[in-house]
Amino acid sequence: MSHTWSAKDHKNTNQPAATGQKRPRNDVGNKVTVVLGAQWGDEGKGKVVDLLATEADVVCRCQGGNNAGHTVVVDGKEYDFHLLPSGIINPKSISLIGNGVVIHLPGLFEEGDKNEKKGLKGWEKRLIVSDRAHLVFDFHQVVDGLQETERQAQEGKNIGTTKKGIGPAYSSKASRTGLRVCDLLGDFKDFSTRFKNLVHQYQSMYPSLTVDVEDQLKKLKEFAERLRPMVRDGVYYMYEALHGPPKKILVEGANAALLDIDFGTYPFVTSSNCTVGGACTGLGIPPLNIGDVFGVAKAYTTRVGIGAFPTEQLNATGELLQTRGHEVGVTTGRKRRCGWLDLVIVKYAHMINGFTAIALTKLDILDVLDEIKVGVAYKLNGKRIPHFPANMDVLQKVEVEYETFPGWKTDTAAARKWNDLPAKAQNYIRFIENHIGVPIKWVGVGKSRECMIQLF
Ligand code: GDP
Ligand code: IMO
Ligand code: MG
Repeated sequence: MSHTWSAKDHKNTNQPAATGQKRPRNDVGNKVTVVLGAQWGDEGKGKVVDLLATEADVVCRCQGGNNAGHTVVVDGKEYDFHLLPSGIINPKSISLIGNGVVIHLPGLFEEGDKNEKKGLKGWEKRLIVSDRAHLVFDFHQVVDGLQETERQAQEGKNIGTTKKGIGPAYSSKASRTGLRVCDLLGDFKDFSTRFKNLVHQYQSMYPSLTVDVEDQLKKLKEFAERLRPMVRDGVYYMYEALHGPPKKILVEGANAALLDIDFGTYPFVTSSNCTVGGACTGLGIPPLNIGDVFGVAKAYTTRVGIGAFPTEQLNATGELLQTRGHEVGVTTGRKRRCGWLDLVIVKYAHMINGFTAIALTKLDILDVLDEIKVGVAYKLNGKRIPHFPANMDVLQKVEVEYETFPGWKTDTAAARKWNDLPAKAQNYIRFIENHIGVPIKWVGVGKSRECMIQLF
């Protein structure tokens, strides 16, 4: 019998033929909507998730840790989220931290308590944490700092990590010595032994590392009891959410495509898959359940930390974007590097993620510019290259080909629909979507929830 491919649409038509026998139907179930960063992070994912989360039943984080910093502004109040999904603001939705996330428990509770003081009520009751998620310990964060010092000494440059212990925690996971939420909630004697072994392992690598093991274990035991009511088998929770009654399920990406461990500007990347595959592996859901994939891109480009940045503007334009855009890291307080929109990277992010639509944020920051440039291609030795270079030395050398657009020199912050935007801004947006080949669904013109123009 020949195989029936369902290549064009996502409906699973691969049902058994009528053979007279009763065969099970393979119901795909609900689809999840995924929101992903299409540049080097800080594109405004939190704001897009918040917009969609007002109607969502479940909002999930699938990768990264508290290296992420997502700002959401609602009713004039600004909330910062690092580990909590931005959907936690919606009192009607459940927030889930999936197995692909690495969790620093002191950070998680500090974040919740801080936002509670700003008015976020009942978050602990709305949060579910996967029992398979790995833990980030305080010493992972210390090791992150030691590794940065070592890189600086050995190579004359570091990565510029957030020092949240992300790299070391994912290293523990990959080397199979990591500890998970289910271990913390299991036999504590066993957990303590494995914790001590892990500490010893790191101390043999970093002799200057001091850890007060008993104090750490005491604190972890307290966190375990606070965490316990939130912990579930994440795979089964997602299975039920996908196969129960219709549900709106949202996945909030952290970090971004160019920081992805496989596809980003390695080694100046984070330690997880921030592209669409991370949604499946970080939650334990099948690819068939992926529905819309929304890419979030700023109307210009920013980057925090070290690494190649072809459209960077180390001049007055870069400074203007930095100050007007308040481009300061939410997690580290570092100034973000700024430059023109680079469509080579956004197209590359689209190749990997298959965006169904794009949210273009921070258009308002460009309001005062006389002219606006957009990077459209890279050249090497005078020749256009069709791909995004894997090698950082090569990326450092590319020459960017730009398109130049006249600025609209009009305040767009009050625009609420397409027709409110100046014609020159509309042209800029149309050029971007045609060049990427993906429709732009939203355009951001300000920080708050209502400053998002929906195009379709
Ligand atoms: P994330 O990490 O992708 O969630 O983004 P961040 O929250 O780190 O950074 C985005 C910043 O831009 C935040 O301070 C947002 O409040 C702000 N922001 C998002 N969209 C817009 C927009 O359309 N216009 C302006 N002016 N600010 C925006
Ligand atoms: P959101 O979710 C911007 C960068 C760091 C550093 C590199 C590695 O807010 O978009 P790490 O601590 O992950 O080992 O650091 O990755 N980085 C981010 N930059 N936004 C982020 O997240 C980032 N998460 C990591 O600055 O260069
Ligand atoms: Mg951020």
